[in-house]
Amino acid sequence: MISFEDVYQVYADGTVAVDNLNLEVPEGTLTVFVGPSGCGKTTSMRMINRMVEPTSGTVKVAGADVAGVDPVQLRLGIGYVIQGAGLMPHQRVIDNVATVPVLKGQSRRAARTAAYGVLERVGLDAKLAGRYPAQLSGGEQQRVGVARALAADPPILLMDEPFSAVDSIVRHELQGEILRLQAELHKTIVFVTHDIDEAVRLADRVAVFGPGGSLQQYEEPGRLLSRPANDFVSRMIGAGRGYRCLQFLDATQLPVRGIDQVAESAIADAQLRDTWTLVVKADGAPLGWIDASGVAKHRSGASLRDSVTSVGSLFRPGANLSQALDAALSSPATIGVAVDTAGKVIGGVHAGDVLAMVESQRQG
Ligand SMILES: Nc1ncnc2c1ncn2[C@@H]1O[C@H](COP(=O)(O)OP(=O)(O)OP(=O)(O)O)[C@@H](O)[C@H]1O
Ligand SMILES: [Mg+2]
Repeated sequence: MISFEDVYQVYADGTVAVDNLNLEVPEGTLTVFVGPSGCGKTTSMRMINRMVEPTSGTVKVAGADVAGVDPVQLRLGIGYVIQGAGLMPHQRVIDNVATVPVLKGQSRRAARTAAYGVLERVGLDAKLAGRYPAQLSGGEQQRVGVARALAADPPILLMDEPFSAVDSIVRHELQGEILRLQAELHKTIVFVTHDIDEAVRLADRVAVFGPGGSLQQYEEPGRLLSRPANDFVSRMIGAGRGYRCLQFLDATQLPVRGIDQVAESAIADAQLRDTWTLVVKADGAPLGWIDASGVAKHRSGASLRDSVTSVGSLFRPGANLSQALDAALSSPATIGVAVDTAGKVIGGVHAGDVLAMVESQRQG
């Protein structure tokens, strides 16, 4: 566990960077610090590994005041990932990853062997191991940064805007990677970001920092979105708050309704009704939709096959109401295709049912 107790940080010029921070990050959980620029997120994070000493108050790691722990020893147990990955440019990827284990006394050979395993763990191909950081894409560099922080298997990871320099698709992938790793490794993680969507997706708990370095709210993402503590937090969450809440609502009770279907092999002879019809492949997976009320009806055989349009996002087992609504709205039929764990079509979900469920879950 990491804890901040009555912590202040006032820099020499009088800037109050952290104003009476009290916060606990339970062991094995991921806390995100989010807030506008200059509100003390980095300063607070750096107090954990003693890169910054608090002006007053106490920061504890695993129950011990860090002020009494040798900084070098402390940092060997704390992985640190920064924006732009912070890799050593003149060292190959494999040696960047092996750095901390070698500092901890492992032989270079053993550390390198282990580093291959860590690269694989963060989704990097072993063939990148011999390259220099400049020979990698931004997203690959960030993955190496995460691999380097994980290499010595520290119980704590500090990540300061690690994904802010990559595009939104790569960022989404890297976030998925962190969630997958965290489900396996259960590290105690502090993650800093400006991006509220990133915060809400990754966090067990979100700490919203405000101007002058004061903590505004510390809460689970679902509750943060549904119950912002004040106007500042509401503005931080932004206009999409109502929509974002959907991802925390359970969709197991959502009705899965029957849909008109036709087998791919039978399209040519199908008697289509005047509605959107789902074309299903031989293995039961969806192929796409045919608009049987429109153009498609007047075509036949092969040309009918050409008018099949993409199926939209799928509603899979375990999905939440946000994914259900997205499935419905991204489908040309405005019916989301529901599939089972094997990917076979089991029916359709409707936007109207999603909204009805939101209302009933609010009342309940
Ligand atoms: N070494 C320093 N000396 C004086 N002031 C500092 C120093 N480091 C940070 N500050 C100030 O402390 C405040 C908090 O800075 P900090 O870097 O913790 O913010 P942040 O929330 O991480 O911001 P950003 O989102 O821009 O990274 C800012 O006003 C900053 O200017
Ligand atoms: Mg910062």
